[in-house]
Amino acid sequence: MTQPAHKLTIAIDGFSSCGKSTFAKQIAARLGYVFIDTGAMYRAVTLYAIDHDIISGGILDTDRLIAALDDIEITFRYNRARGAADIYINGDAAEGRIRTIEVSNYVSSVSSVGEVRRKLVAIQQAMGRNGGVVLDGRDIGTVVFPDAEIKLFMTADPMVRAERRYKELQAKGDTTTLDEVYRNVVERDHADQNRAISPLRKADDAIVLDNSHMTVEEQMEFFMGIYNERLCK
Ligand code: DC
Repeated sequence: MTQPAHKLTIAIDGFSSCGKSTFAKQIAARLGYVFIDTGAMYRAVTLYAIDHDIISGGILDTDRLIAALDDIEITFRYNRARGAADIYINGDAAEGRIRTIEVSNYVSSVSSVGEVRRKLVAIQQAMGRNGGVVLDGRDIGTVVFPDAEIKLFMTADPMVRAERRYKELQAKGDTTTLDEVYRNVVERDHADQNRAISPLRKADDAIVLDNSHMTVEEQMEFFMGIYNERLCK
C-alpha cells in the first residue's frame, strides 16, 4: 500500500463507554499513527484531586484544584504489551488507577472546570500538531482539532454501553453492580452534554457511528471506507 504524503488527524468523539478508546487504538495501530486518550488525562487530574483531598466528602474544591494545576504534570509512556501509552502523574504510574468507579463519579465535575480544560487542551494540541494522530474524547472535533480531516461521533444504546463497561470492571475484579455502572453512564451523558464549557456535541462535519449492534470488524470496515475516501480527495 502506498503511504499518504500527509498524515491525517482523526478525531473520535462521543458518549462514555462507546468503545472510543479501543477503536481509536485499533485505528492508530492499523495506520501506524499515535493514539491519544484524552479521557485518561481528565481522569488523571481527577485521581490527583482525590489523592490530595481536593475532592473530599464528595465535594470538589475548585479553587484548590485550579491552584494545584501547575503542580500536576501529565505524561505518557508507550507500553508495548498494551499497545498504547500509559499515563503518569508527576512521574508516577497512574494507568491502573484512573478507571475506577470513584474516578468515574468525579471526573465530570473536574472536566467542567475551564482551567483544567485549557491546560489539557494545550497538551493535546501540542501532542497532535504534526498529524498522524487519533484522539478520542468529547471535544476533539469541536475544540481541540476543529480542522481534523476525519471526525467520527460515536454513540450506542446506554444499556449496551453499561453492560460493556460492567464486563470490563468485572474482569478486573471490581464489584461495582450493573445498576451503578448504568447510572454512571446516564449521569455522565447528561453532564458531558450540559456543561457550560465545551459540552459534548457532534461537530457539523462529523460522521455518526452507532455501534450498538456492530462487531469490531464492521466498525473498522466502516472507518476504512471513510479513510480511503478521504485519501482519494
Ligand atoms: O473517555 P472517558 O470516559 O475516559 O472520559 C472521562 C471523562 O472525561 C468523561 O466523562 C468526560 C471527560 N472528558 C472530557 O470532558 N473531554 C475529553 N476530551 C475527554 C474526556
